[in-house]
Amino acid sequence: MKVLMVCLGNICRSPAAEGIFRDRFPKVKFDSAGTGSWHIGHPPDRRSVAVCKKHGIDISSLRARQVVESDGAYFDLILGMDRNNIDDLRDIISPEFHHKIKMIDENEVNDPYYSSSDGFEIMFQHLEKAAKKWKKRFEEGNY
Ligand code: 4NP
Repeated sequence: MKVLMVCLGNICRSPAAEGIFRDRFPKVKFDSAGTGSWHIGHPPDRRSVAVCKKHGIDISSLRARQVVESDGAYFDLILGMDRNNIDDLRDIISPEFHHKIKMIDENEVNDPYYSSSDGFEIMFQHLEKAAKKWKKRFEEGNY
C-alpha cells in the first residue's frame, strides 16, 4: 500500500505527516508532496523538523516536491490536509483517480507556516490523532 501526504508547500504539514505515519505504520509506504511549486527541492521548515525531533521523529532528510498527475495512478491513497488541498488535487489528478483523494482528518489541519512554534505543536498533535484514526482502516485494508 502506498500513501501520498499532500499540503500546499510540502515543507510544514505533509512532511510531518509522512514522518509520523511512517513511524506508526512501518509496513505502509509513504511519500509527501505539495500542490504549490515554491519550495521544490527544499528541506522541511526548521520548525516542523524541530517539533518532529522533539517527538522522536527525524524528517530532516525529506525534500519538497510538487504533486504530479501520475501520482494519481501510482498511489493507493492521497491524503490532503485541508479543503484547498483537496480542490487543488482534483485539478491535478485525473478524474478516474479522484476516489483516492481524501482528507487526512475530518477537521482541517491548519497551515502553521505563519504561526508561532505553538502552531507546529498543535499541528503535530493533530497529525498524531489522525494517525490513530487511520490505524484500524490501514490494518483492515479499509481506505
Ligand atoms: P505547508 O505550509 O503547506 O504545510 O507546507 C506552507 C508552507 C509554505 C507556504 C504555504 C504553506 N508558502 O506559501 O510558501
